Amino acid sequence: MSKTRIGAERLRSKIMSAEDAASLIKSGSTVGMSGFTGSGYPKKVPMALAARIEAEHAAGNPFRLRVWTGASTGPELDGALAKADGIEFRLPYNSDPIAREKINRGEMEYFDMHLSQVAPMAWQGFLGPLDTAVVEVSGIRPDGTLIPSSSIGNNKTWLDRADQIILEVNSWQNPALEGMHDIYYGTALPPHRVPIPLVRADDRIGDTVFHCDIEKIVAIVETDAPDRNLPFNPPDAVAHAIAGHLLEFFGHEVAKGRLPQSLLPLQSGVGNIANAVLTGLVDGPFENMTAFTEVIQDGMLDLLDAGKLRMASATAFSLSPEAAATLNADMGRYRDKMILRPQEISNHPELIRRLGCLAMNGLIEADIYGNVNSTHVMGSRIQNGIGGSGDFARNAYVSIFMTPSTAKGGKISAIVPQASHVDHITQDVQVLVTEQGLADLRGLSPKQRAEVIIANCAHPDYRPALKDYYARALKGSYGLQSPSLLNEALSWHQRYVETGTMLG
Ligand code: COA
Repeated sequence: MSKTRIGAERLRSKIMSAEDAASLIKSGSTVGMSGFTGSGYPKKVPMALAARIEAEHAAGNPFRLRVWTGASTGPELDGALAKADGIEFRLPYNSDPIAREKINRGEMEYFDMHLSQVAPMAWQGFLGPLDTAVVEVSGIRPDGTLIPSSSIGNNKTWLDRADQIILEVNSWQNPALEGMHDIYYGTALPPHRVPIPLVRADDRIGDTVFHCDIEKIVAIVETDAPDRNLPFNPPDAVAHAIAGHLLEFFGHEVAKGRLPQSLLPLQSGVGNIANAVLTGLVDGPFENMTAFTEVIQDGMLDLLDAGKLRMASATAFSLSPEAAATLNADMGRYRDKMILRPQEISNHPELIRRLGCLAMNGLIEADIYGNVNSTHVMGSRIQNGIGGSGDFARNAYVSIFMTPSTAKGGKISAIVPQASHVDHITQDVQVLVTEQGLADLRGLSPKQRAEVIIANCAHPDYRPALKDYYARALKGSYGLQSPSLLNEALSWHQRYVETGTMLG
């Protein structure tokens, strides 16, 4: 394999085992790893690192790291390192269940941040120094440039900023990936920033490869391991209903002349509901669509296959194992229809605003005034993180949030009197959709929003209690702009924590 995937003769002397490479990483150091939603993350070095950490702990030696990535990764990285108790601090996004438990038990510090801001903050130096980059690539060209893998994330920044670089060259990745990427090298810090020259979702503005100082490459590890993403739940009646409401809304906007028939570049968030909506668009009337989004999910592939989607721009694949295998086996067919970019570009506020993206993201809960909590269950427990939802919601042409109206078998209402944590303020939430219906909140005052959210989005089991709360707030509140009953606003959450249900 080394002959075909590692073209740079002078780098072959750096090929070593994952264990030897892991031994080059020091306890207490900061490691920038590749990886974004289960694709393109290093697989062997983190596992070897976890084994080393366990051995050090068994010998009574503390060994913990600060770990930065693009977003979530796979079980071989976050899962293995968290299980070994090897992560002291983590940014910017996590969905691994073992790491989530550690964070919620207070055993791991977690800085959950807007994904577009990671690279600029690393450059600004706000995050501290970066000691080691561990980056998966699909090949090294004879001139030493690096062919990216199935995600880009923050790799460009890690390669530039780290003192030393460890590469995993993964031959599982299809060589036809080469040419799909667009790595923009024109970003700078203020006061030297200039406009980013991207005006359409399919514009290419950068290089197809990463450049790095090859003197910094201290180890190359060869792998042949698949990306590991979780399967999506097949769309159920609730997901179909949400997709149906959204399609009707888009049709209405087209009829009103507020959207073109090809819509505007789609952004689709993570999770089952977002994926189900994309699948719903396959049967919709919209043609020649584009996507300017963060991740390419199964539903995007379905839209490409159906000829409805012309192209998709993202920073990573986030595919079920079956869809990843299909794509990997047939990469040549998809290559010209997809562009993978650094996450500071895929999620860039300037570009999202210019292109006029239609942002569609999931949520944990929304309150009757349209404030959205995307991250914290009962205000305290982190689920995943804000991810790119803030990048898109604040800057979108239309910012849509969608959710089933209840969670945990009906014991939790997704529409509550007051959100127990707020990620997206009401001004960034323009449309709210549940299986019950859609609330178009554009141009509405808080009280008008409350009426339409309760009527259109709340589940019938919770609607009377919401109406009752709102009616009493209108009478008994300190002010009538966004009326609330302070001693009751979070009582639904308290009831759930105490009794296991929000139902009174
Ligand atoms: N209270 C408690 N738990 C809730 C909940 C609520 N109000 N709403 C959802 N959940 C739980 C579900 O029960 C489920 O947990 P489980 O896996 O233990 O069953 C989990 O959250 C996922 O919910 P699901 O209904 O399957 O929705 P999803 O897969 O569409 O994910 C989010 C929803 C909010 C978790 C997900 O969209 C997310 O992490 N968003 C933040 C990041 C983001 O938007 N990124 C996109 C930017 S491009």
